[in-house]
Amino acid sequence: MIFFFTATGNSLYIAKQIDSELVSIAQAIHKNTEYQAEKIGIVCPVYGHEMPQIVKDFLKKSQFETDYLYLILTYGNRHGDAAELAQQFAESIGLHFDYINIILTADNFLPAFDMNEQKQLDKNEDKQIAAIKEDIEKKRIYISPVTETDRNIHKQYLQRMAKMPKDTFSNIYRITNECIGCGICTKVCPEKCFTMENQKSTWNSDCCIMCMACIHACPMTAIQMNIPEKNPHARYRNANISICEIIKTNCQLNRS
Ligand SMILES: Cc1cc2nc3c(=O)[nH]c(=O)nc-3n(C[C@H](O)[C@H](O)[C@H](O)COP(=O)(O)O)c2cc1C
Repeated sequence: MIFFFTATGNSLYIAKQIDSELVSIAQAIHKNTEYQAEKIGIVCPVYGHEMPQIVKDFLKKSQFETDYLYLILTYGNRHGDAAELAQQFAESIGLHFDYINIILTADNFLPAFDMNEQKQLDKNEDKQIAAIKEDIEKKRIYISPVTETDRNIHKQYLQRMAKMPKDTFSNIYRITNECIGCGICTKVCPEKCFTMENQKSTWNSDCCIMCMACIHACPMTAIQMNIPEKNPHARYRNANISICEIIKTNCQLNRS
């Protein structure tokens, strides 16, 4: 059994290579809280060197009965001390990961990277996945090591974040006149932050977790960031994952 959270498909692609019993965290967070399996895995992206808040919330409310609990963190550029922070978080809520590893993938963070460039880079995902798959088959006990430099990267990141204006994130997206009211943003958002009004999409910042699923999925590039983007015309989705899979994974429209 493998739980995953994804905005642009990297984590879903990896989860699919490792186990066939896939469970979307964006869906499971509203359902059962007890899970039983011989091995249980979690796959999610790294946001600011940490697990996304939705994944932390899911771990907090869930109980796992398993011989082997593992975590795979996908990241695009710098994992910082993500493995250590995840381990510390797990321990703070009484969970213990037997295995934590990281996988370098395309980086979907628009302010820092041009998605056209990311799509061209070969980050050797399949080789990394194969090694991790072998580890998990053998139930290897391992936590990816973290250096002092990794910890400092995170400290510096937190200092930069603390200096950002308070309203940066409440105002981070804007929807342009290019919006054709297709509603894809309402379907890929794992937090139900979009509504349609007069065939135009409206974004509610209160629930936004900044996963960027909406902005990457918009077929008109009509969702833009209010902070500079490396390439406002380039968007990303893992080449092996369809938009239907992202919708199926994240859609909250049937939830009251
Ligand atoms: C809000 C946000 C923050 C991110 N922070 C980091 C980070 O700290 N380090 C990093 O290497 N990649 C970071 N990334 C890139 C993602 O972790 C990476 O592209 C991941 O594979 C995306 O997974 P997904 O396709 O399953 O959503 C960030 C992406 C987003 C959207």
